[in-house]
Amino acid sequence: MLEIVDLTVAYGPVVALERVSFTVAEGSVTAVLGANGAGKTTLVRTISGLVRPRSGSIRFDRREISRLSPEAIARLGISHVPEGRGVLAELTVEENLRLGGLCRSDRADRRASVAEAYALFRPLAERRHLPAFTLSGGERQMLSIARALAARPRVLLLDEPSLGLASLVLTQIMARIKQLVQERQLTVVLIEQNARSALSVADDAVVVSLGRVVAHDQAHRLASEEGLRHAYLGF
Ligand SMILES: Nc1ncnc2c1ncn2[C@@H]1O[C@H](COP(=O)(O)OP(=O)(O)O)[C@@H](O)[C@H]1O
Ligand SMILES: [Mg+2]
Repeated sequence: MLEIVDLTVAYGPVVALERVSFTVAEGSVTAVLGANGAGKTTLVRTISGLVRPRSGSIRFDRREISRLSPEAIARLGISHVPEGRGVLAELTVEENLRLGGLCRSDRADRRASVAEAYALFRPLAERRHLPAFTLSGGERQMLSIARALAARPRVLLLDEPSLGLASLVLTQIMARIKQLVQERQLTVVLIEQNARSALSVADDAVVVSLGRVVAHDQAHRLASEEGLRHAYLGF
């Protein structure tokens, strides 16, 4: 569904990704793993159109998207949950969710997506009228994911959802994402430094080191490769 081919991205003289290629199957979770500075955030920012590649291509349903605007890419159904959580702190939980669904043209659809968010992440329903800055880290992460989902994306790009979260909260969030993948044929690209937890939910995984793909395989197979784990995954 998503094909990354020979993607090279640079910030001036700094080459952040070099000839990166991999594919993501529809209805799967693909983990992108690697150390700090490996190029993971650059990869998702390039997929969502925020960064322009120097060369290579990104195809979504066989259509080239690497030169489209971020708005056009979002409209095609690719939603990005940025590192550090994309919620508007001064707005209430409900206002954040309504903004997330704004791009849906039908009013009933917009209402339904807010209701779905509450059904999926129960703590958000109880806090619907509170400003987002009053939420815990885990709740804020739920809100940022729910906000992205309110647009009914086909692909969800999650940049380090585990950052700063207790592992129990993370497990709950991952279970919800797994549920969506199954119920809605959602496709997820999950960026993580926490390789162990990511591999436990992912179908496939790509390991990036210094801007290059060093491994791409089924998650359970990568998890069983001791040499790779020690060299790149830190467990
Ligand atoms: N806006 C930027 N300007 C210049 N260099 C950047 C910028 N963003 C990231 N980089 C560099 O690109 C490389 C990859 O960074 P990044 O994609 O953030 O990695 P990761 O998310 O895996 O930690 C790093 O060397 C980083 O310093
Ligand atoms: Mg990053």
